[in-house]
Amino acid sequence: MFHTPIVPFARKRSRPVEAAVPRHDVVKFKDVRLYLVERKMGCSRRNFLTQLARSKGFIVDDNLSDEVTHVVSEDSRASSLWKWLKECAPKNLPGVNVLDISWFTDSMREGRPVAVETKHLIQIPLPTEGSPLTPVATVSRYACQRRTTLENHNKKFTDAFEVLAESYEFNNMERPCLAFRRATSVLKSLPCAVRCLGATQDLPCLGQHTKKVIEEVLQCGRSFEVEELLSDERYQTFKLFTSVFGVGPKTAEKWFCRGLRSFSDILTDHSIHLNRMQQSGFLHHGDISRAVSAAEARSLRSVIDGAVHCVTPAATVALTGGFHRGKEFGHDVDFIVTTPELGEEESLLPNVIDELKKQGILLYCNYQASTFDMRKLPNHHFEAMDNFAKCFLILRLESSQVEGGLHCAEGDIRGWRAVRVDLVSPPVDRYAFALLGWTGSRQFERDLRRFAQVERGMILDNHALYDKKKKEFLAASTEKDIFAHLGLEYMEPWQRNA
Ligand code: CTP
Ligand code: MN
Ligand code: MN
Repeated sequence: MFHTPIVPFARKRSRPVEAAVPRHDVVKFKDVRLYLVERKMGCSRRNFLTQLARSKGFIVDDNLSDEVTHVVSEDSRASSLWKWLKECAPKNLPGVNVLDISWFTDSMREGRPVAVETKHLIQIPLPTEGSPLTPVATVSRYACQRRTTLENHNKKFTDAFEVLAESYEFNNMERPCLAFRRATSVLKSLPCAVRCLGATQDLPCLGQHTKKVIEEVLQCGRSFEVEELLSDERYQTFKLFTSVFGVGPKTAEKWFCRGLRSFSDILTDHSIHLNRMQQSGFLHHGDISRAVSAAEARSLRSVIDGAVHCVTPAATVALTGGFHRGKEFGHDVDFIVTTPELGEEESLLPNVIDELKKQGILLYCNYQASTFDMRKLPNHHFEAMDNFAKCFLILRLESSQVEGGLHCAEGDIRGWRAVRVDLVSPPVDRYAFALLGWTGSRQFERDLRRFAQVERGMILDNHALYDKKKKEFLAASTEKDIFAHLGLEYMEPWQRNA
């Protein structure tokens, strides 16, 4: 019944079969030589990962020779790994990177050896005498792992980057825009100024274009590309138009293409229909394009506190947004209001709005009722806005209520100014997520979500945190709970100015 095998000798011993087949993977990264530690990983997984890496152009050595540059282990118990490494270490082991599997998976995903960061390192447990093994601290590529205060030592670079990012945004070029925003955020997190291009060598998120700008600023004190943009008609017009509340890049584009260049061009063109938000935006442009001071924010806090407690005594008000991060100035003031009773938050904002109206200080109100529905979560759409009830307001703030007076133009004798205020009112069990989301900064939030997704297999937004592996939502009543679920060190709001 059984056929005699054509190959007369049993092949049992030559397993794994793949190993016997000569492979012709092209080496792409000659300077990187990997060694995968079999302990804990197991033989078959090691074979699989070895082939995967080779197919992507990596050199993977079967033996731990002194040519190896990157040792990758799935055994992250540092002490036993290091003990084992020392026993079979070649003489130059001190020069090698000892990394956990996350470096490997990151590199496979990117299709190139990614820069080694602190989070990848399996640190030697205790520094032994004379050992140069202690790794140099590196900067994470996630803003949520970089403590970023308001002290920016690299303003001359980040100001230039921000102009470029904005200009890409105006031209609808998302990727380069994001690249400059990320680079800005990395430089903002540094404890000192960049003084030479070499200092940027090991920093993440800095590409050729950003480095060229840094080089120019270092050499000439300015970037020619940025100078050109600043005097560019398109850039200037977009900047002007988008400074109006209710006008985004799309509307600015429309107006620009119609040949409009100034506010009077727009206001005298009768074919243009301004929506209610834009009308208020033009009406109060002088005031709301002027920054709000921290003293004004404090005064608004008592205004909002008063109105909220008047309608719902048990409700709580929390300052969020830029002022919660310790900023001295902001473009608006953001508050989260909620009630301890679940469901009671639904009538909260409409009542507060009525109260502000009654007080005669409501100059503009755009109220959006809640569309929040736990059954529609998790939301896979990455940058979606949240569904909580919220309102975007313009309020009248009296000078007499502000300690030290208003932040107004010289000679302004009105005794009041208009200010932008945002209120959001999540159900109390969603409070921690809303607070984390609204505290910002935008870049910090982006990277938190990206970190959750890429590093933890979780989906985070302003409503919830969902674990894709466990297929369950993770509860949190404080921001600390959320950081803990994500396996991140907690960061205070003032350290989130990424
Ligand atoms: N935010 C949000 N959903 C909105 C509006 C804002 O999640 N519908 C978040 C933003 O992502 C940001 C935070 O709320 O992290 C505050 O937004 P904003 O007031 O625009 O920025 P600030 O950081 O407060 O900066 P500024 O001082 O200029 O106001
Ligand atoms: Mn704000
Ligand atoms: Mn806001």
